[in-house]
Amino acid sequence: MSMTEDELTAVVVDRLSATPDARLREITQSLVRHLHAFAKEVRLTDEEWFTGIQFLTATGQMCDDVRQEFILLSDTLGFSSLIDVINHSDVEALATEPTILGPFYVPESPVREFGASMVEYDDGGEAAVFRGVVTDTAGNPLSGAMLDVWQNAATGFYAVQQPDMQPATNLRGRYITDENGRYEIRTVRPVPYPIPADGPVGKLLGATGRHEWRAAHIHVKASKDGYEPLTSHVFDRESDYLDSDTVFGVKDSLIADFIPGPDGILVCEHDITLALLK
Ligand code: BEZ
Ligand code: FE
Repeated sequence: MSMTEDELTAVVVDRLSATPDARLREITQSLVRHLHAFAKEVRLTDEEWFTGIQFLTATGQMCDDVRQEFILLSDTLGFSSLIDVINHSDVEALATEPTILGPFYVPESPVREFGASMVEYDDGGEAAVFRGVVTDTAGNPLSGAMLDVWQNAATGFYAVQQPDMQPATNLRGRYITDENGRYEIRTVRPVPYPIPADGPVGKLLGATGRHEWRAAHIHVKASKDGYEPLTSHVFDRESDYLDSDTVFGVKDSLIADFIPGPDGILVCEHDITLALLK
């Protein structure tokens, strides 16, 4: 029995129609339709598909408990950011825009006092104060909100990437907003850094003429009972790579200035808005 390309797609989709779980059925049938459409559109050759299989195999073989090459693939294809926009962006809610979590978040950071430093290891980074107010969407300050913050050191690495050099809790901390909804954190200016590029994803970046750099940023998770939790970043306006962040995480509203204060220390002011839980 000969079959056209489109008939074959229809047969596979039909075979999945008995999937008992309705959501799994929807996802697998749609995946097959889009996967087949992709191969038909580019007229994928035998050799190209074999190269694709080899690439996916190498990506899997690169993964272990700490190295998640498939997540890097998702990140560099903009897929992680797409899933984030689908699930967490609500322009009408007027809340601070979210962006991706990334692989370097470590829960249970030390709870630090208002204004306390999260620098536990001096690598010559430029001193900075990161501060602002957390409000609801009507502009009312939210006291008692939790900010969970993490960033890289002047070496370009997060503490979790340099366990023999940086203390585990360096440049990580949880801060609670004061009675006026304010937070204040002593830190160092973040620097741009390359995502791990010594695996298949790095090769793909190279083959497609792309770089592996992220624009300098501080990660922030903000939460308060009764409000939608936020996972976001603050980007340094003077950073390189704002226009070409390799994981597509930059949003204009998340770019902030680092400006010298009266004592010469850099200050980054960034207010955060949380939406009520839906
Ligand atoms: C990060 O911002 O920490 C990150 C995000 C995606 C890939 C690698 C790092
Ligand atoms: Fe990061």
